[in-house]
Amino acid sequence: MTLEKQSHCKVNLLLNVLGKRADGYHELETVMVPIQVRDRLEFARRAAGTGIQLTCNEPALPTDRGNLVYRAAAAFLTAATITEGVSIHLEKNVPLAAGLGGGSGNAACTLLGLNELFGFPLEAAELRLLAAELGSDVPFFLQPNPALATGRGEQVEALARFAGLGGTAFVLVHPGFGISTAWAYRELARFPAALNGRRGRAKELVALLRAGALRSACAEFHNSLEAPALEKYPLLELFKEFFRENGALAALMSGSGSSTFALVRSQAEGENITEKLRSKFGTTYWTRVVEPGI
Ligand code: C5P
Repeated sequence: MTLEKQSHCKVNLLLNVLGKRADGYHELETVMVPIQVRDRLEFARRAAGTGIQLTCNEPALPTDRGNLVYRAAAAFLTAATITEGVSIHLEKNVPLAAGLGGGSGNAACTLLGLNELFGFPLEAAELRLLAAELGSDVPFFLQPNPALATGRGEQVEALARFAGLGGTAFVLVHPGFGISTAWAYRELARFPAALNGRRGRAKELVALLRAGALRSACAEFHNSLEAPALEKYPLLELFKEFFRENGALAALMSGSGSSTFALVRSQAEGENITEKLRSKFGTTYWTRVVEPGI
């Protein structure tokens, strides 16, 4: 039996870094919205002792322990004391190191997929623990809702869909290069204001989004990791400027980059702004227009 699953992405409407922790990670508060940009995964059981066989259509990705999907599968099999092997195929559509959580989504999807394939041996709480060990963003992808995440990002409070985002769309643009998350956080040391954000901004933003106060909410969109990323990659600032000049309600880098997104009033406006972007910047950049939510 083969089990097929879609693995979605996210954008961060706010990623507010609060300071560096003793364990080397950064304390943060973030508001994440799932989006329908998806990779596809296939899972199948194999004979005992055959281990994990991972294949992937993207040659730039490793298919051994260097791949988060492989590590998620290994963690799952160990935790569930399963001796059978598994084969997994990963079909990537989402750009790599793009700040959209593609790899984290793949890891969460692997935990959920294998748990289903083997008849649900692990409880939700056990999956959350495994997810947090795999990466700070992985627990968010175990559930389908927008969320406010704290700690290093692994403490997830799921939220109902935001009334304020009804009817809107996100325009995404990827510049063709990735940004290392570890690099972005490390570089924050040079930007003390960005490193030490004021706690409470995430709750304030959530309240505005719930109340449907879209304009006020957009003024609160913020990403501390833009400080190093925009300095090194001015193209990202140009994308933001372009979106703002062309009527977007807000424009921001997602996660640790390198994707930039704009919030616009409708899917049609999103298509329109994408056309303009392609005529100004060329047609080589990866772009998508998506509704908030999955
Ligand atoms: O948790 P994850 O493996 O996705 O993080 C990748 C890297 O990003 C970490 O090794 C760390 O350097 C940095 N990071 C951080 N603070 C966070 C999340 C990630 O410093 N809250």
